[in-house]
Amino acid sequence: QKVVLAYSGGVDTTVCIPYLRQEWGVEEVITLAVDVGQGVSLATAELAETETRRQQELEAIRTKALAAGATVSLVKDVRAEFVRDYALPAIQANALYEGRYPLSTALARPLIAQLLVAVAEEYGADGVAHGCTGKGNDQVRFDVSIAALNPQLKVLAPAREWGMSREQTMAYGERFGLTFPVKKSSPYSIDSNLLGQSIEAGPLEDPWFEPPEEIYTLTQSVTQAPDQPEYVTVEFRQGQPVGLNGENLAAVTLVEQLNVLAGRHGVGRIDMIENRLVGIKSREIYEVPGLLVLITAHQALESMTLTRDVSHYKRGIEETYAQLVYNGLWFSPLKAALDAFIQQTQERVTGSVRLRLFKGTAVVVGRQSPDSLYDPNLATYTEADQFDHRAAEGFIYVWGLPVRVWSQVGQRLP
Ligand code: ARG
Ligand code: SIN
Repeated sequence: QKVVLAYSGGVDTTVCIPYLRQEWGVEEVITLAVDVGQGVSLATAELAETETRRQQELEAIRTKALAAGATVSLVKDVRAEFVRDYALPAIQANALYEGRYPLSTALARPLIAQLLVAVAEEYGADGVAHGCTGKGNDQVRFDVSIAALNPQLKVLAPAREWGMSREQTMAYGERFGLTFPVKKSSPYSIDSNLLGQSIEAGPLEDPWFEPPEEIYTLTQSVTQAPDQPEYVTVEFRQGQPVGLNGENLAAVTLVEQLNVLAGRHGVGRIDMIENRLVGIKSREIYEVPGLLVLITAHQALESMTLTRDVSHYKRGIEETYAQLVYNGLWFSPLKAALDAFIQQTQERVTGSVRLRLFKGTAVVVGRQSPDSLYDPNLATYTEADQFDHRAAEGFIYVWGLPVRVWSQVGQRLP
């Protein structure tokens, strides 16, 4: 039996390696660490050596898996694919789960699933494995995505079944020579990638408890944020962000730079209670500075370039799209159909949006587009006005006719 394990380098996925071999008789564990840009903080993002440090951390993760008993340990940098194939479509969809969460964690799962399946096929593995618990959304996203891509593969989820506490998990690992850093482990469960951070558990489980400043690593507190506003211009082509402040940038760089710009002004913190697919309400903290700015800017550009009917209809599509992504149905017929709709709407979503970043807010202050449907000669109240005011009268007569008839009947008027 050969299995490909999604590996993060954390306690749970590391212990999964001996566990799969000892308890479940897996002969070969191939680990796959997926680099989706995790582990950058506002404090380090601007440092030139960030990339070198990140590479060292990934290399450490790679060796750690081998030390824990993996036969093959792979690391794949998929930051470009992550942004191009997952984040950008979600931005075009203005996808916000329950109106707030821009799905930063949820978007990475189908990509990781896709890579697990590809590696399993390449190495002729019988199954794939992940370290998710049985209470969350991530297990659903992995299992369903894997089933959609290769229904023959078995999915193993040791942490869903082993029923061990954090201490027991470490003790189990120690039996197989694993050591865990003595630094007292953080009480929080954190998932991070280049779109942001999801923080939950520990003291945050008390919904009345205010998140302590220390949990935030991508955004500055409003009190520390600069006292001067900063303006940023985002350029879009067909619904995709392609430039920042007049400079064309690759999508990954654009998101990284915007994370720093917006994060410094304290933009992108979310504290919410959300409905998980498994029925549990959970308290989640998100830090998603760049992604939130991009969705805000994209919405503003759409309001200028989409016709009223498309714009209104798309809102319903967006809601469904966000639910599908949250609920693990990235690879599904309905999602594919909604993608086609959204793609079609983006043809003329081209132009620039200017935002003011200040003390935790990102406010749109300007927008322009070669495909703008905003016509100053129709909108103006000056003498440049070209709107035919008399046409309004007839329009209102026809528009209001059903209401007029209804009222007449109700009042028994002749
Ligand atoms: N609640 C968020 C979601 O479902 C974040 C999950 C965070 N995952 C984690 N392993 N900490 O997308
Ligand atoms: C987990 O339970 O594995 C993480 C939380 C989630 O998936 O929502």
